[in-house]
Amino acid sequence: MAIPFISAQEAAEHIKNGDNVGFSGFTASGTPKVVTEALAEKAIKEHEQGREFKINMFTGASTNDHVDGALARANAINRRTPYQSNADMRKRLNAHDAHYFDLHLSELAQKMRYGVFGKLDVAILEVADIDDNGDIVLGTGMGISPTIAMLADKVIIELNEALPKSIRGLHDVYIPADPPYRREIPIYKASDRIGTPILHVDPAKIVGIVKTNAKDGVKSFADLDETTMLIGANVCNFLLGELRAGRIPKSFLPMQSGVGNVANAVLHGLGEVAEIPQFDMYTEVIQDSVVDLMKKGKCRFASTCSMTFSDDMMDEVLANMDFFRDKILIRPGEISNHPEIVRRLGLITMNTALEADIFGNINSTHVLGTKMMNGIGGSGDFTRNGFLSIFSCPSVTKGGLISNIVPMVSHLDHSEHSVDALITDQGIADLRGKDPVQRAETIIENCVNPEYKQLLWDYLKLGKGGQTPHSLKAAFAFHTEFAESGDMRNTDWSKFA
Ligand code: COA
Repeated sequence: MAIPFISAQEAAEHIKNGDNVGFSGFTASGTPKVVTEALAEKAIKEHEQGREFKINMFTGASTNDHVDGALARANAINRRTPYQSNADMRKRLNAHDAHYFDLHLSELAQKMRYGVFGKLDVAILEVADIDDNGDIVLGTGMGISPTIAMLADKVIIELNEALPKSIRGLHDVYIPADPPYRREIPIYKASDRIGTPILHVDPAKIVGIVKTNAKDGVKSFADLDETTMLIGANVCNFLLGELRAGRIPKSFLPMQSGVGNVANAVLHGLGEVAEIPQFDMYTEVIQDSVVDLMKKGKCRFASTCSMTFSDDMMDEVLANMDFFRDKILIRPGEISNHPEIVRRLGLITMNTALEADIFGNINSTHVLGTKMMNGIGGSGDFTRNGFLSIFSCPSVTKGGLISNIVPMVSHLDHSEHSVDALITDQGIADLRGKDPVQRAETIIENCVNPEYKQLLWDYLKLGKGGQTPHSLKAAFAFHTEFAESGDMRNTDWSKFA
């Protein structure tokens, strides 16, 4: 029997108050776009009638305004995991209107398969193609799609007609057997294909197909500013030094890179250095800079969970599938981020910190210790298991009112044990083989902004010994000073002597 075409409103009627709902995609790429808007409208109407309407929301990672934005504005979320980056959603979860729990991206699908969060009621999948047997070509990001398609009682399809059928073949759909039956995941190089290009969904579960042609809506990057360029150049120099010293093999190692302007600058920088050989990427997200590297022949292959390209770049890639088909593979998040593979392939991991402390601990998620920014994303999956783990951040934020290097991080996501190097616009701190005091000296000397150097040297003297000489009274003085005067530079250690 043919799967019916339905409207977004009809699709939204299949979703009930309290349902667990899974969403396709990863970042803005491959996420649903119209059913979620209809669902938000439904929630608003239900609230106007005095009825409760909230769903529990499971995604691959962040989404876009059609998903997180619309549903947050409608106050339609009860539980949310694992990563978001939407301003309206951020407000909801910091106000506890939505209960957010942050999770390593690689862990969500397996936890869902074990029923940790209850049964999954509905999955909404954006697809490029589907036939009546339920054979699906997914969109531009995979996230948790294979697992939610398998688990959900009902599946709603968004058929995005803006996606060309030629995208078929880019996906590698694979669900590992769960413990105790799991064997090794047989990826030995970034380009190894282990699954199928098609996702099969039981057609009896598909309640209907909603047509759309909306784009992912990813914006192009801002031009690189001076700070970002300096960080990018420092990361490139560090990698070059490692290569020359033989600590990175001559053939180089696959790279993982976070998203954002810094990651973009690093990749751009690597493309400019002739001495860096061709490399592969094994990462969760590829952005525009990777396409440029592929065109230059610098990046041979990218294994990813999503193509987070700006709309213009996406058009270019989709129009040139003959060139890109053998250079990109889109995998589920639990495979793109799998610790076993990250360790086996020996990834160079590059992630961004909100704040780091002088001993090398990293806060990736909480602004000034309390407000959730986005979530841990895949940073822990990669950092903890990488061959060489690099964190970078600007040395100061808000024109110098905030130092991104502090005495003690106000929230801990990645501990000193998982961080090999910290890099800012000021320079490089190689933390390997150093004790905590040596790490602090290296970070203060090389990475801290000149306006904060003396303050941090003085903090180091406040500690009364021990392996990690903190002054517990003064450890958060930068943060409390910012809360009081709005400028961390006013910190006065004499209050703590
Ligand atoms: N204290 C207070 N505010 C800070 C801060 C600090 N130490 N550091 C940055 N900020 C503010 C910035 O001023 C900016 O504020 P604005 O939005 O008002 O301008 C905001 O936080 C974002 O900072 P920015 O420098 O633009 O960050 P980014 O875009 O490079 O993102 C993270 C940095 C850490 C938020 C981002 O990388 C992230 O979400 N990481 C976790 C997930 C991850 O690493 N995934 C890896 C695989 S993709």
